[in-house]
Amino acid sequence: MILSPFGPYIYKGKLIEVVRKQLLADAFDAAVEGGDASGILVGEVEDQLFIYPSDEVLRSIHGMTRDYLGKVNGDRCMLDCEPIWVNFSVAGDWQPVHSHDGDFSFVAFVDVPDGMYDESPAAGAIHFTYGEKLPGSRSVYGPIKPEKGDVFIFPNWLNHYVYPFKSSGQRISVSGNISVKGMEASF
Ligand SMILES: [Fe+2]
Repeated sequence: MILSPFGPYIYKGKLIEVVRKQLLADAFDAAVEGGDASGILVGEVEDQLFIYPSDEVLRSIHGMTRDYLGKVNGDRCMLDCEPIWVNFSVAGDWQPVHSHDGDFSFVAFVDVPDGMYDESPAAGAIHFTYGEKLPGSRSVYGPIKPEKGDVFIFPNWLNHYVYPFKSSGQRISVSGNISVKGMEASF
């Protein structure tokens, strides 16, 4: 038996394909009219743009967040996802260790270059890090190699980072900060 009494919870969900494609279309709309988000972000990324996803995308993210919080009757729980941005990452782009604002944050992987994960164990992968490096204790969770449609939700303060990749194509991810009002999380 393995007990895991300490540490943050990370939710992993999956966008259904029709919602992933909608978010991909929203991402390309952001490329036209989203506006530069790099001023509030730390990533070394080709394009970082504000995005205003469609209602069906937000419903999906809100549903996963309520699932994560353990509050499926979430009408009493106000969720505010803002800001939301899209990262169009190309070869050589990377994300240093950072955390977010809000209460929780999400990242949805909309597109992933073919073969990126074959380059090296960490290429394009995300890592979460928490706590001290001690014998018998895990302080790094990763490399996590998200596939198209994967969604992760985590506490805003949880540090994470992304290694660069060399493959052609774009790694498109949409992230946002989630404020929770009116109800405490159940954990
Ligand atoms: Fe981040």
